[in-house]
This record gives sequence, C-alpha cells and structure tokens, in this order.
Amino acid sequence: MIAADLSLGTRAIAALRRVDPRAHAFYLYDLDLLAGRARRFLAAFHGVHALAAYAVKANGLPAILDCLRAEGVGAEAGSLGELELAAASGFDPGNCVLNGNGRTIEEVEWAVARGVHSVNADHVGELDVLAGAATRAGRTLRVALRVNPGIETPGHAYVATGHDEAKFGISPREALEVWGARSRWPSLELGGVHIHVGSQLLDVVPLEGAAAEALALKRAAADRGATLTWLNLGGGFGVDYEGRAEFPLERHARRIAELVANAHVELVFEPGRWMVAPVGMLLAEVLWIKHRDGRRFVVLAAGMNDFIRPALYHARHRIAPVAPRAGEVTTAVVVGPVCESGDVFEEAALLPPLERGEWVAILDTGAYGAAMASNYNGRGRLAEIVSRDGRLLRARAAETPADLLRRREDVLEG
Ligand code: LLP
Repeated sequence: MIAADLSLGTRAIAALRRVDPRAHAFYLYDLDLLAGRARRFLAAFHGVHALAAYAVKANGLPAILDCLRAEGVGAEAGSLGELELAAASGFDPGNCVLNGNGRTIEEVEWAVARGVHSVNADHVGELDVLAGAATRAGRTLRVALRVNPGIETPGHAYVATGHDEAKFGISPREALEVWGARSRWPSLELGGVHIHVGSQLLDVVPLEGAAAEALALKRAAADRGATLTWLNLGGGFGVDYEGRAEFPLERHARRIAELVANAHVELVFEPGRWMVAPVGMLLAEVLWIKHRDGRRFVVLAAGMNDFIRPALYHARHRIAPVAPRAGEVTTAVVVGPVCESGDVFEEAALLPPLERGEWVAILDTGAYGAAMASNYNGRGRLAEIVSRDGRLLRARAAETPADLLRRREDVLEG
C-alpha cells in the first residue's frame, strides 16, 4: 500500500515541478481511495437509517468535497465558511449539519434560509436566537441539543471533547429540562441529541458509551412527552497512524445497529479524519542534512506551519523516502525550516541514507493537515494536488510571497 502511494508521489513531484519548478513541498490526495472510503463508510451503516455528514474542518478542499458529495455523503460545518464551501460543492443543505459553540447570527440565518438538516445547539441561551431567526423567516428549524455526557476518552487532551471540563455542550439534566419545556420555542423542532466525545478514537468503548447515553436520553425525553427522532453520534473514528491496527468500522457499525434496533431513530455521524487522513500525504524535499552531537538532522522544506499535528499534539506520522536508497537505516531527527524548536516532525525516524534534493512523504496527512496550515514565518500555504482516475490535477496552487504582500491597510476612520 505504501509502495503504491509513493509511486504516485514520484509522478506528482515530476508533474508539479513541470508547472512550478520552485515547488519544494505539497500535499497529495488520492481521490479514488477517498471515494472508496466514503463507499465503505456508507456500506458499513447501510442497515440503519443514517446520514454520514463529513466534517469539513478535516479538509475543506473543494476537490475533496466534490468527491465526497458525489458518493452520497453529507456535510458537517462548524462555520459560515464551511457551510458555503459545502454549498459550493453542491451538497444539499438538507444533508448539512451546523455545529459550533460560538455561533454567529450570520450562521443561524444561513441555516434557517437554506434549510439545513439540523443545528446542534451548544447551550440553552442560543435557543432563543435560533427560534427568533426561524420565526422571522416563518420556518421551523431542526435543532439537536449537544450534550456533554462526561465520557473520558484516551489520547491527547486537546482532542477530547466529552469529559466534564470540556467547553462543549450542556448537561444531560439541562437537556431534559429543555425537552420538557419545548413549547417555549415553537419555531424549533427540538427533536435530536448530539454527542461527540472526541477525536482519533481507536477504542470503540467511548463511542458505544455515547450511543448508549443518547438512547437513554431519548427514553428520558419520551417520559417528558418529547420525541427525539434523530441521534447525532458525532465523529471520532480513528485512523491507524502507526500502521498497527485500524478502526474496526464494520464491527462498530454492527454494534451500533444492534443498540438502536427498534428505536425508530435516524442516526447522524460526523466522520472527518477517518475519511480523509489516509488518502493524503505531505511531500517535502530534503533541504539539508546536518550532523551534530551524533545526531542526523533532516531539514525538510515543509514546516509546522504546513502541518502542525506533531508540534501541537505530539502526533506521530510515518515518514518514508519517496525513492528509498540502499544503505543502513539509522535514526534521524526530521525537522522543518521554521524558527521554532518545536518545528519537529519526528524525533527518531528510522530512515536510510538521504541527501539534499531527495523527497520524503509524511503519511496519513489528509486530515487536519492543510486545513490547519498558516502563513507563520512568512510562508505561503502549499499546493494541493489530487489524483483521480489516473490523472493528476492541481486542486490549489501554492501561495507565493506576492500573495502575502497583498495584505495592506484600508482606511477605517479619518
Ligand atoms: N463533529 C464535531 C462536533 C467535531 O468537533 C469534530 C472534530 C468532528 C465531528 C470530526 O471529528 P473526527 O471524525 O475528525 O475525529 N485537529 C485535531 C482534531 C480536532 C477535531 C475537532 N473536532 C487533530 O489534528 O487531531
């Protein structure tokens, strides 16, 4: 699998260099693989009534959104920008879910005007704002309450969202009070519950716990006369970054189907990482090799501004030479060119001999890679290349220094 990916990398380097000889790093996504993953996800949940709403935040590149939309996936948006990106790729708003804990009135009005599948409300106070917008437009807005179930998840604290200290959601008790008092908001259909406990989960226990909690809330809401018709179980499906064991998608889907059997509910999932992480790689040229204090530093043309997961979460991604050379495999510190000591992709990568001008691939970088890139250190965002049906397309050209120079002031006053 890796070998096949890397030959695609070799072709993409040559193709991009023909149009942009100054390209030293870029993202590459395999859309055939992406379409296959979308189909696999939908097939796994085929037996239940489910909407798979792709989390646009993982990677909002239009070529990726177009591909997923064509496979019948919906979209999960966390901002006005993501709603617009989804709409521009042809997603039916009725298959779009709006999330967020800091919603603006513009997002609310978009959701009401276009008729989204549902909005996940993060706190009780915003229900009045949602209801006001729906009333003004003479429409009914479907709203799920985001509940924080107090479920701990393994992994980095920054990607855990369902524990008691997390900023997201309301307590189960508050949610039940709202469903009991639902007639206060006649323009809202308060018919759903949303529970997203965290990201990069390889263990299904927290996900099953969230599903069980959602069902328990449905029953408790029914006791208050409220009928919940959909359960949004969020995203969080992990990927196998270390090449050990992948997320047991089909087994998990069967388990969820058993749990909701006879519950008469629609399910919503919000997978981001699982869909796109494995279809992407970050290709970077080796700018320098430096030896110091018995250590080999491999300095890449990509840095933490291009891919921040290792610096931000101590995430580990496999790094492979695109054209491995014979020779002894030894450890190397793989770093970027940014002026920060934290600009390190891997402290102890096992790599064969490498020389300046060769390229390496940082694997499984399709999710939360380009999407989290910045211009830090005056660095333009990288090009993004996609492969589809044997063709290579540049889905986004690299930013150049000229793009950075466009930031000039305009007069606000005086
Ligand atoms: N739904 C909600 C409400 C979310 O907050 C998220 C991700 C998702 C769905 C999609 O989760 P996924 O299926 O991708 O796990 N930047 C971090 C991940 C942050 C996830 C934020 N929320 C990383 O690179 O690991």
